[in-house]
Amino acid sequence: MRKKSYFAFLLFLMLVLAACGTSEDTTSNEAEPESPDVEETESTDEGQEEEEEAAADWEKDVYTVATDTNYVPFEFLDQDSGELIGFDIDLINALAEEAGINIEIETLEFSGIVAGMGSGRFDIGIAGMTITEERKENIDFSQPYYDAGLVVAVHVDNEDIQSVDDLAGKTVTTRVGSTSETYIIENTEAIPEAFPQITEAYQNVIAGRADATIYDVPNVQYYASTEGGGQLKIVGDTLTGEQYGIAFPKGSPLRDVIDDALTTLKENGTYADIYEKWFNERPDGM
Ligand code: ARG
Repeated sequence: MRKKSYFAFLLFLMLVLAACGTSEDTTSNEAEPESPDVEETESTDEGQEEEEEAAADWEKDVYTVATDTNYVPFEFLDQDSGELIGFDIDLINALAEEAGINIEIETLEFSGIVAGMGSGRFDIGIAGMTITEERKENIDFSQPYYDAGLVVAVHVDNEDIQSVDDLAGKTVTTRVGSTSETYIIENTEAIPEAFPQITEAYQNVIAGRADATIYDVPNVQYYASTEGGGQLKIVGDTLTGEQYGIAFPKGSPLRDVIDDALTTLKENGTYADIYEKWFNERPDGM
């Protein structure tokens, strides 16, 4: 009897061990195909948390807008009041209102805006900034909001320079960090002289210290007919087509918000009204 029960116990023990082994195997086998699911669920949770954090991060009471103070007629200081005015200023205020967000405008030098947008220092940048492939590596842009281009301008008495083809060996001024600076270096044999403020670039041409300037059509035109006092004239054709975009840090959810508002303002006539205020004509097809 004792022996019998001993064997029965051994048998029982073996069965239990075998069952354990099997069940362990079964568990681990089942666990493997299941584990990716488990991980996915976890990572979705994490993803949601991250998204919520990101949302909390970008949703602000007040968004900072970077712009410049010296780019007629897009952003410049009113000579009488000293107030920052211009097409970009009216547009960004209208866009903020349409999008239902609050903004605060900060001014700095143009090349600093480009750099600051790339580093995420500002939420929005509006500064007559041309959309370029190079900038798109570090900055997200809205849909285009203005068609511009580059032109050559010289002193009104200069008859030697008729177009961009006459610039070899000449000093040509422009603004630091602009698409024009790149253009002069890459497409002409001219000696580039880039200034932090575009008005310095123009004044050097007017004073005869430089031969020509290359910059954005609307700015050259506006300056030539206002502050420039008829001393600067445009020569030749528009050199390149450029489009201005509103800048955002890469991946900013604010881009779509502002972009939708821009579509609305283009459709409801507000954009065209602002355009007409600064350029004395309705934009094409609006
Ligand atoms: N469109 C040119 C660029 O993107 C010049 C813009 C200058 N804008 C300004 N606010 N200073 O380089």
